[in-house]
Amino acid sequence: MFEIKAKDNMGRVGVLKTKHGNVKTPALMPVIHPRKQAIDVGKYGADIVITNAYLIYKDEELKQKAIDEGLHKLINFDGPIMTDSGSFQLSVYGDVEITNREVIEFQESIKTDIGTSLDIPTAPFVDREKAESDLKITLERAKEAVEFKKENNIEMLLNSVVQGSTYLDLRQDCARQLSKLDADLYPIGAVVPLMESYHYKDLVDVVMNSMKELSDSVPRHLMGAGHPMIFALCAAMGCDLFDSAAYILYAEDDRFLTTRGTYKLENLHEMPCSCEVCTKYTPDDLRAMPKKQRRDLIAQHNLHVSFAELRRIRQAIYEGSLMELVEERCRAHPALLDAVRQLGMYACDLEKYDPRSKKSAFFYTGPESLGRSEVLRHIQKLMAMPKKRDLILLPPSRKPYSKFISGKLGDFYRYGEEHDIDLDNADFMVVDVPFGLIPLEVDEVYPLSQNSTPKIRDVDAVEFLQEFVDEFSGYYEQVLIHSRVLKDLEIEGENNLVDAEIRYAKDDVKKIKAIADYQFGVGAGEALFDGNINIEKSKKTGKIRHIYDGKTLIVNMRASDSFLVLSKEGARRLHAAMPSLSNRVVVNKDSEPFALDGKSVFCKFVVDCDDNIRSNDEVLIVNEEDELLAYGKALLGACEIKELKTGQAIKTRKGMK
Ligand code: GUN
Ligand code: ZN
Repeated sequence: MFEIKAKDNMGRVGVLKTKHGNVKTPALMPVIHPRKQAIDVGKYGADIVITNAYLIYKDEELKQKAIDEGLHKLINFDGPIMTDSGSFQLSVYGDVEITNREVIEFQESIKTDIGTSLDIPTAPFVDREKAESDLKITLERAKEAVEFKKENNIEMLLNSVVQGSTYLDLRQDCARQLSKLDADLYPIGAVVPLMESYHYKDLVDVVMNSMKELSDSVPRHLMGAGHPMIFALCAAMGCDLFDSAAYILYAEDDRFLTTRGTYKLENLHEMPCSCEVCTKYTPDDLRAMPKKQRRDLIAQHNLHVSFAELRRIRQAIYEGSLMELVEERCRAHPALLDAVRQLGMYACDLEKYDPRSKKSAFFYTGPESLGRSEVLRHIQKLMAMPKKRDLILLPPSRKPYSKFISGKLGDFYRYGEEHDIDLDNADFMVVDVPFGLIPLEVDEVYPLSQNSTPKIRDVDAVEFLQEFVDEFSGYYEQVLIHSRVLKDLEIEGENNLVDAEIRYAKDDVKKIKAIADYQFGVGAGEALFDGNINIEKSKKTGKIRHIYDGKTLIVNMRASDSFLVLSKEGARRLHAAMPSLSNRVVVNKDSEPFALDGKSVFCKFVVDCDDNIRSNDEVLIVNEEDELLAYGKALLGACEIKELKTGQAIKTRKGMK
């Protein structure tokens, strides 16, 4: 019932399928009041809405109508409807007059599409004892609901809400236990107080720790999140659904939602956007209006802004520019900036889901960009690369750096003691943000050249480079640093000018071997490019396109990201040289003939795979005896391939038959 179409970091564009139609995610579900609703939210872009089953249940008239005619008729919406269970009322009034079982039965009887069990929303920062005892009840009720659904063969989809207050281990525990239940959707609950009090950093901790243990194949809903200012941040953490009464509650209070924050009508000199309302009326027009008319117009604006932001987020996920949007949005408030910095602490989690190569370039928007998964990924690769004896550090120039650095490289300072530098036994690297050190041989590989960065001025970025250079230098016997690097980083070298004429000799074979090692792991270069290596370049751009051994094609180099794309012979060589599981996806016996035949591999046939696989990687497809069956492109990361039970894992390029 949930299909993922595109991904960026942990954000995904998906399709949620229900009896009443499909919903594109990330999506916002406007809250519909079963009695007071004045606005037709469908007209403003809502594909799915949420309402409160408990309020209907408590109102004899509404209850009877809902049972007789169905919920869709009652609230006059023919798309999918989610219902909440009264948990929110429970958290406000301390009690509700309904049991868990009753509320599940009731939601089913009124034909809600997605129902919710009666979880306990435990407030943030409560005693641990309280968080634990509440959680125990929440879990029991979730279990009861799932069992009830199974026993009675109920079609209604079920929400199982993650609770645990601000105890991150409890959030993880809860998510892990709920995942075992096989509910249909996983909302993350009790975050409203965190958002209302601008505790966005804690929100990041709570959401990321819940996500760690939630199944990737199930949609996640951030309950009560309705301010468009935080949609991008939360989408990047993997939230697929938002809901809110904010559009109407803020309107009641004459407040305009925008992605930059909230504006009060009394302070407005200009209308905040270019929606229908904002272009038709002035702030004075609205101030002069009767309350109800004004409220409905502001609510319309609020919905417009919210849906526009979700469209922008989905577009950013398709392009691979979601983090740029997140960083932009998080500059609206210092508490959000704090939150995006906190998200950087989870780069390891985000990286597992982030595609290896994207349509868009990496845009540096500030020091927060240094916390992105691409940076972490490059540093991990760099650490794993074999190191020569000496290191030569070069200043940034135009990209790709290697194209513009050659011949005499100019003034060098020796850092440390003076010795002879052996150019054949030295690594040449450019020092630049955001990737720290970029080996010249691999600098054309995505995103090492496909990025845009202003001249390094941010104090945090300079500090990052200083620390990086300092630590990395420890791996080498000697380090030679270009004077511009010394100056930019304010490094205190010995400052004795070395009259060295450093030449970076371009060597295509060295380069393709380094790229292969960077892409497939150390050793891949030697294995792939053995024999009578013959490199064919593009006549127009001069870039490497095809690499042969004699007349046999080994790999193509893709122009957009300089990734090596294997041929049959390339796959054979890589398979023979690299140890078991490296770059591999292992499929079961049943799917062997299909793989051999060049058919794509579905997740359910995968028995194991290399943990380093990320979506867009070139991979080998083998059987359980490690015989090569085919090769292709991964559509998902290793953790998803292992977990998902439906959908394609690998788009096969060719079978070995
Ligand atoms: N609405 C806002 N927060 C919550 C929550 O924690 N649980 C439920 N069921 N509804 C909510
Ligand atoms: Zn507007």
